[in-house]
Amino acid sequence: MLDSTHLHITSWVIALILFFVALALHNSGQAKGNKIVHMVLRLFYVVVIFTGGYLFFEYSDINAALYGVKFLLGVLVIAFMEMILVRLKKGKSTKVMWILFVISLLCTLYLGFRLPIGFNFFM
Ligand code: HEM
Repeated sequence: MLDSTHLHITSWVIALILFFVALALHNSGQAKGNKIVHMVLRLFYVVVIFTGGYLFFEYSDINAALYGVKFLLGVLVIAFMEMILVRLKKGKSTKVMWILFVISLLCTLYLGFRLPIGFNFFM
């Protein structure tokens, strides 16, 4: 089951949805709801890293450099989601984090769909 990319895709799609739900709750002043969704999102970070890490250890022999970059980019997407939510709670500016989040997400999606396992939209 972990050999295919389905579980990995499911986990990062759910993580992205939870991220935007947490943002919406923050913007509507629902601190408690935001806290709960943020906690669930953190669990999904672990699932994304676990499913991605499994694919990495299983297939990185195909192209160690590109799979290494995919690993790093995936972790960066998670890091920027977390930094946006934490900085929002602290009332700090999130502009730079948003730019970095969008760039790293686009690069991750492009590279993920380009790499040979699963869907190959860009080949
Ligand atoms: C939110 C963060 C992430 C996003 C949006 C993301 C996105 C993707 C996408 C679009 C694919 C291609 C799926 C397919 O072709 O069927 C993929 C595959 C993969 N991801 Fe992620 N990923 C994320 C996090 C991670 C992390 C943290 C790791 C490593 C720990 C990782 C490692 C991999 C590997 C090794 C593959 C297989 C590449 C291939 O298609 O050959 N990803 N990911």
